[in-house]
Amino acid sequence: MKLFNDDSNDKIKEKVEALKSEIERHNKAYYVDDKPLISDVEYDKLLKELQDLENRYPEYRDLNSPTLQVGSNNFKDTKFKKVKHRKPMLSLSNSYNIGDIIAFSERVEKILNDEKSDLEYVLELKLDGASISLIYEDGELVRAVTRGDGIEGEDVTDNVIEIESIPKKLKESVDLEIRGEIVLPISKFNEINEQRLKENKEIFANPRNAASGTLRQLDSSIVKERGLDGYFYFLVDAERLGIKTQSESIKYIERLGIKTTGVAEIIRNTDELEEKISYWEKAKENLDYETDGLVMKLNNMSLWEKVGYTTKSPRWAIAYKFPAKQVSTKLIDITWQVGRTGKITPVAELEEVELSGSRVKRASLHNIDEIYRKDIKIGDRVFIEKAAEIIPQVVSSIKELRTGAEREIELPKSCPVCKKELAKDEGMVDYKCINEKCPAKIQASIQYFVSRDGMNISGFGSRLVEKLLELGFIKNVVDIFYLYKFRDKMINLEKLGEKSVDNLLKNIEESKKREYPKTLYALGIPYVGKFLATLLAKESKNIDILANMTHDELLTIDGVGEKVADAVYNFFRDEQSRDIVEKLKEVGVNFLLDETSTPPKVESEFTGKNFLFTGKLKNFKRDEIKKIIENMGGVNLNSVSKKLDYLIVGEDAGSKLKKALELGTIKILTEDEFIEKIKV
Ligand code: IVH
Repeated sequence: MKLFNDDSNDKIKEKVEALKSEIERHNKAYYVDDKPLISDVEYDKLLKELQDLENRYPEYRDLNSPTLQVGSNNFKDTKFKKVKHRKPMLSLSNSYNIGDIIAFSERVEKILNDEKSDLEYVLELKLDGASISLIYEDGELVRAVTRGDGIEGEDVTDNVIEIESIPKKLKESVDLEIRGEIVLPISKFNEINEQRLKENKEIFANPRNAASGTLRQLDSSIVKERGLDGYFYFLVDAERLGIKTQSESIKYIERLGIKTTGVAEIIRNTDELEEKISYWEKAKENLDYETDGLVMKLNNMSLWEKVGYTTKSPRWAIAYKFPAKQVSTKLIDITWQVGRTGKITPVAELEEVELSGSRVKRASLHNIDEIYRKDIKIGDRVFIEKAAEIIPQVVSSIKELRTGAEREIELPKSCPVCKKELAKDEGMVDYKCINEKCPAKIQASIQYFVSRDGMNISGFGSRLVEKLLELGFIKNVVDIFYLYKFRDKMINLEKLGEKSVDNLLKNIEESKKREYPKTLYALGIPYVGKFLATLLAKESKNIDILANMTHDELLTIDGVGEKVADAVYNFFRDEQSRDIVEKLKEVGVNFLLDETSTPPKVESEFTGKNFLFTGKLKNFKRDEIKKIIENMGGVNLNSVSKKLDYLIVGEDAGSKLKKALELGTIKILTEDEFIEKIKV
């Protein structure tokens, strides 16, 4: 019995030690090297595992445990002068669900049992940057220190002086210490990474690492160049100045000329918190800095001492972390997908992980150039994130974790489906299968043809399309209208009964009457998505007119640029495409605008919304984009105000962008994002 006990105790001790050294490795990667090897969620999991073991087996707890420390032990060999903080720079305890927050507020209330009558909390944004402490003497900035291990940090004054938005002199001549976060604006982060890609330099995985790395550069001219920014949320010893609450602290900081996020909302219960969480989960996308959650703090500072502190964090505050934007996982393989136009796209096959609330096992990699630029190999651990919150993408590979067994990703020599040769259009990055008979292309174009925005034929799942192609019942979109000939054979197909086959045939017949904008969309002309199909249908009134338009005539249509004119013109000069259109007309598919009904509205998510564009646009002339916006039912405004819904930003956007970001409620779109949206 004793033997067994010793044995299992040894195992626990071993586990505790292993966890400690693993966490310390990640502390160094995050705090010292500014190159995390795992995501925040994964890190918090390790820390919690260690914390649980230490709670269950206090004999293995020691003062050097990462559960008791802030930052990294390894920051000791810093290149900067070390400075002891006047008061420890604490961290916050993290939570990922509302249950933890309820438990937190219950704990606070329990401690304050007789004073809890009307407890107020302040809700702030949790900035994802590098913590900093600023010391002002007589209103002048004298020192700036990083958090370091919480007890002492690095003196980065020379660098912080280069940050424009941080005042070197306050509006009052006071002595004080203010804490906050140095961030790299997302717009700057994107610019820097684009530049680094061009220069073949390694890109920063996220704005936080870029901010922290920049702040700890020895050359302060780099800091100036990169455009760091700072937001502040904490006044040390505020009570000394007669301040009684955290929200007053924030107002006072602002009065001194120091930047805050402007978000300090009073909440009284966790229901209100839930509302704020769902609001900020979306609204954060409009900010030009990263926030990874919300922080809830007891507002009344006179209660702070009573509620107390752990060695690492105050007990009167808690962070609610938004679902992780980035997680790390293993890239198991690459498969190549062939799209409707023949474009082949690499798809990352991943070890399944949870990302922003869903299970993910595939992610997009765009094209081979991107794979090379980001230096991604099969077998790598990679960070993935959801682009525009929908499609997961591979952000970067974690080269430090390579074992040597990783394999280079190679472009397939031929189409992965039909095995015929691939081609690359001049000046384009994408490789394409040019075989008109490629089954993958045919399948994708049929799928597109029957889709909701096209012929809208329900009952046509991808499995069924695949099966019908395999059996030879269909070879192209025209054959769909002859499927009735195979009615009996289809009824006998696995899982298809008489009823569903008859329904499908009925839906096919009805689809012939779809409106012209939809039938035009269904043809799958490159670039001609929902918006352009409606526009072209309105302009041409019937497909014969459209098919015979010259390139110049196409260009005279407001909202049609070079690329679209080329695509439409070429489509109708292609013999096979013309043949398909003719045959579709023969079977009775409608390609005529119904002028008796109300003219089709170019409905989009933009209809009824207010727009403004700013900066230099690459793809549109000013009048052109205005017309597009009007065609979509949008309204063009001249200035930024609360009324504005969308700001489209081109290069070198300036004060308008700044103002929109400050207002915080305006959706900002880059020109490319705008184009993406009008395509669908
Ligand atoms: S209060 C004793 N408020 O997040 C006060 N911290 O993960 C403790 N952070 O160490 C900090 N936004 O570096 C506070 N609104 C905010 C914050 C914030 C970001 C940082 C801070 C903290 C870390 C904990």
